[in-house]
Amino acid sequence: MSFHHVPVMTREVLHYLKPGQGRVFADCTLGGSGHATALLKSLPSDGLFIGIDRDRDAISHARNVLAPFKGRIHLFHGNFTRLPECLQQLNVPAVDGILLDLGVSLQQLEFAGRGFSFSKDEPLDMRMDDRSTMRAEDLVNDLPEDELAALLKEFGEERWAKKIAKRIVSVRATRRIRTSLELSRIVSQAVPARKTAHRRIHPATRVFMALRIAVNAELENLNTFLEEIVDWLSPSGRICILSFHSLEDRMVKTRFKALEHPCTCPPDFPRCTCHREPVFRVLTKRPVRPSEAEVRENPMARSARLRVAEKIDREVFMKEKNTQKGKTVA
Ligand SMILES: C[S@@+](CC[C@H](N)C(=O)[O-])C[C@H]1O[C@@H](n2cnc3c(N)ncnc32)[C@H](O)[C@@H]1O
Repeated sequence: MSFHHVPVMTREVLHYLKPGQGRVFADCTLGGSGHATALLKSLPSDGLFIGIDRDRDAISHARNVLAPFKGRIHLFHGNFTRLPECLQQLNVPAVDGILLDLGVSLQQLEFAGRGFSFSKDEPLDMRMDDRSTMRAEDLVNDLPEDELAALLKEFGEERWAKKIAKRIVSVRATRRIRTSLELSRIVSQAVPARKTAHRRIHPATRVFMALRIAVNAELENLNTFLEEIVDWLSPSGRICILSFHSLEDRMVKTRFKALEHPCTCPPDFPRCTCHREPVFRVLTKRPVRPSEAEVRENPMARSARLRVAEKIDREVFMKEKNTQKGKTVA
């Protein structure tokens, strides 16, 4: 499989991850290996690169395109929530930089043949990992109407969720809905054209996104990852997360903030009594967005938001704290 692929916000990712200064880096969403290639080009010759993707095709593609870096790369097919197992296998205690570039890749949309795109006539599958059991077809044909509507509303933020679910249920009473194009047509028929004419996106965009998120348990995986991330980063290690969905971005923002300000004392307490110390320093107070020029060149970047945090080095932190205390006493 070959394709032209432009990774999103590469310059910003390299700026924050500083692959030239660390030793161990993990790209946990390899996709078309665009970011991976850029990272590896800057990685020192004794550096180690870990690449993960739950899509088998992404791993075989990476084996080809990353072949020039052989010897420094370790590729794993699986969920990024299993990063600790990969580290254990490699006997690596922690990583200096982690990249998560969430969502679907261009090659999944264009070449996978698994129904990720509403403009192609493919089986309604949408599994990133072919070992998973649930397909989009199962959700579309088997979920009760109210659950289907709730899924479209929650994961797709789809305004017409109820209408679309109703239409799907009436069609599936006559036949099983099996392909992406069939579903795309059903959605277009369910939503009044005059109500969507002003939308810049196809009427089925949000429905497809919602189903993909549900099939791949994308929010649960991100949540698990964020819960455990602190243990996997080395002191001063950084994590870059590129998200394309407001729910994901909110999860990242909330978790980073909780790790930066863990103190649970009421604001009117004169001093902290919970003694919870910050573990992260957030480097992007607001999410970094792609430039207009990048969006023009690469429409996939349109909704990208990048957030970056650094794990606090406790030794440095305690030294700074003691210096501050000394200054206050004097
Ligand atoms: C937006 S693409 C990444 C593109 C990549 N950064 C590049 O430069 O080509 C997202 C990739 O993450 C993978 N992915 C999504 N969720 C995952 C998870 N929980 N574990 C591992 N890989 C995942 C998808 O299979 C897809 O290949």
